[in-house]
Amino acid sequence: MPVIEKLKLENFEAYRQAEIFFTDGLNLITGRNSSGKTTILDAIFFALYGEVPEVTKRLLVSRLPATDKSMSVQITFNSPITGQKVQIFRQGKLTGPKTFKTERRRLLIDNVEIPVSSDVELKNKVSELIGVGMKKFLNLVYTRQGELTRILRPNRDEMDNILGINILKELIAEFEILEKEFTSYGGKDVETELANIRQIILPTLQPQLERLTKQTTQLEQEIAELEKKILTVKSAEFLNLIQKINERDNLINQLKQEETKIQFLLNKYSVSSPEKLKEKIAQLNLEQVQKQIEEINTKIELLTQLQRELQERITTIKTILEKNQVSTISQLIQKQNQLQESLTKTNHELETLNREMEQIQLALTELQPELLKLKKDLTEHKAMLENKVGTCPTCKQPITAELLAKLIKQEEEKIRELEPKLQDLEATQEQLNGKKEKLKQQQTNLTTTLASIKEDLAKIAELAKEATLSDLEKNLLEITQELASLQEEYKAKIEERSAIESEKEALLTANQEIEFAINKTTQLQTALFETIATIDTLLKKLTLPFKPEEKDLKSKVAEKLPFSPEEIEAAEEEICKKKETLEKVTDEIEKTRRKIEEYRQLEKKLATRLKQTQTIRSLKKRVEEIIEEIRNVTLQNIAKEALSIYNTLTDQQIYEKFEIDPENYRVYVYPHAFRTRLPATRTGGGHQTLIALSIKLALLRVLGYRNLLILDEPTYGVDAENITQLLARLAEAAQNITQVILVTHYGLGEEAAANIIHVKKQPDGSSVTIQ
Ligand SMILES: Nc1ncnc2c1ncn2[C@@H]1O[C@H](COP(=O)(O)OP(=O)(O)OP(=O)(O)O)[C@@H](O)[C@H]1O
Ligand SMILES: [Mg+2]
Repeated sequence: MPVIEKLKLENFEAYRQAEIFFTDGLNLITGRNSSGKTTILDAIFFALYGEVPEVTKRLLVSRLPATDKSMSVQITFNSPITGQKVQIFRQGKLTGPKTFKTERRRLLIDNVEIPVSSDVELKNKVSELIGVGMKKFLNLVYTRQGELTRILRPNRDEMDNILGINILKELIAEFEILEKEFTSYGGKDVETELANIRQIILPTLQPQLERLTKQTTQLEQEIAELEKKILTVKSAEFLNLIQKINERDNLINQLKQEETKIQFLLNKYSVSSPEKLKEKIAQLNLEQVQKQIEEINTKIELLTQLQRELQERITTIKTILEKNQVSTISQLIQKQNQLQESLTKTNHELETLNREMEQIQLALTELQPELLKLKKDLTEHKAMLENKVGTCPTCKQPITAELLAKLIKQEEEKIRELEPKLQDLEATQEQLNGKKEKLKQQQTNLTTTLASIKEDLAKIAELAKEATLSDLEKNLLEITQELASLQEEYKAKIEERSAIESEKEALLTANQEIEFAINKTTQLQTALFETIATIDTLLKKLTLPFKPEEKDLKSKVAEKLPFSPEEIEAAEEEICKKKETLEKVTDEIEKTRRKIEEYRQLEKKLATRLKQTQTIRSLKKRVEEIIEEIRNVTLQNIAKEALSIYNTLTDQQIYEKFEIDPENYRVYVYPHAFRTRLPATRTGGGHQTLIALSIKLALLRVLGYRNLLILDEPTYGVDAENITQLLARLAEAAQNITQVILVTHYGLGEEAAANIIHVKKQPDGSSVTIQ
């Protein structure tokens, strides 16, 4: 079954419409230059991978006259990997003068539409179905026109890709990442850390632990020895004896202290015995002083009362005097007398005035009715005269006008005489009245003042009791002085009392202390007797020839024993210290043990890591070796295979050996009789084509890809004799490869071809195929 089965083009470059069929075996595409042969191969490539190397897509849209702006390609192929029939359809369009857009892409597998959303997705699917990716397809399957000899001096990466080394290289990179991860632990290098633990840390910690353990044993031994020694010395009786002697000494000391205390107190208060002290206390008489204080106090109170009263009286008298604007009592009396005199005088004056006023009143009483009568008569007479009355209305006697006029004249004269007199009298009366008023007022004032002074004097008399103010003041001064001296006396007495009190208190305290000390002495003595008795018993029990009262008993007893009590104390202290050290050392041992354990764990962990690292390294090395193997062995095989293919392609078998440099994949040839190898690119052009072709075929064979081979003009520079053989050989090779598509314009080898596609250029410039 052919791989590529059918290709359908529409508006693709020079093709308006074309449907091209392919068979398995050798498919030959022939035609003249520029007829459209390469276009078919590019169309196959575009249909499969969605692009054409080094050609921008917009150039793929036909520029022939009367074509629209869109193009499409459809390919049918049989997957050499899955055996499925695959159809791919791509349609694109010019959307601007320089822009091309894929409008549709379809994938059908065994006539089932498989949804694809992008060129990349479709490309990946095709790569799986064809069995090679786009790059590998270009390097291995499809040799583009003029690029055959590139294999003689290939791109290293491309070759790595073809040989499958790239994947292995990626694997190495992965291993390197892993190696990096595994060779470091906590930021440190695993190997260095492990060496550090094994060579420095553990070898240091181990002896440290041993040394500490040894130290523990030694300390325990020392403590045990000391304890044993102390135990023998510290027998119960001995300890008891020492303790009792200590007690005895202690009691003696205390007794001494108490006695000294008593003596000190007696000396302090200058008495010879406690009894004398008691007598001294009894002699201190507080009551008498207290009584005296009370007496003085009473006196003071009394005098104070007196002083206050006197003071009040003086103040009151002074206030009265001040009110009367005098400074002494006698002055006030004098003032009273003067006022009295003035009053008497005023009374007298009033009496005289009254008399005078009486006389004036009398004269007035006479004059006023006389004048009134005159005025009445005058008025009557004037009326009578006017009315020409001829008879007196009173006496009924006839009256004349002349008489009337005479009467009127007399009366008027009299009135004129009397009226000033009356006026004078009335003025005098008024004057006297004013004077009287004044005198009366004066009299009232004097009487009031006198009454008030009298009252004041009576009050003063009551307060002063016949004494003068200065007498009273003198008296007050005396009292004040006496009070001051009494207060002095009082203060002195109070001081005397407090002195006696504090002395008594001190003496009482001293007495109490002495009594307490005496009590304590008695107790201590009893205790001392008892202790001495116990010491006596113990001495006898221990058969020590000493007396219990002996002063230096303790040292004497100590002399009889291997250790002095001080030494025991020191030994005990030492035990204590040693125990502390032991505790510390034990702690240290525990810590060291823990540390060792931790480091052992870490060592294990690191060792595992190191092992894993080594595994990774060996795996990496293996892959590297595989790469090397591929490079060396596979390349050698290819070179060998290529040489044998080459020898079938031409009768000019002038090379002894082909060689592919594993470093850069360059092809070298060893021509017979040459001293050294020659780069294949330095052979003749025709030979370069032949060598390249044989390398290509060898590659396919060695790599086991036998499905498809597409060659565009692989005959460049090959001479006529060689071309016949070459094409025959290619036809032969096609038997081993499922499908070979070969472009040649020589029209040669047609007899070996299974399928011939003629390409022809039409007069309108379009290409057509004839099959
Ligand atoms: N977009 C296009 N529209 C129309 N014609 C095109 C377009 N692109 C290329 N051509 C024509 O296609 C022809 C080139 O076709 P192709 O390269 O396939 O020829 P060939 O047969 O391989 O030639 P040779 O033997 O020289 O290699 C030229 O005549 C060119 O004018
Ligand atoms: Mg061509």
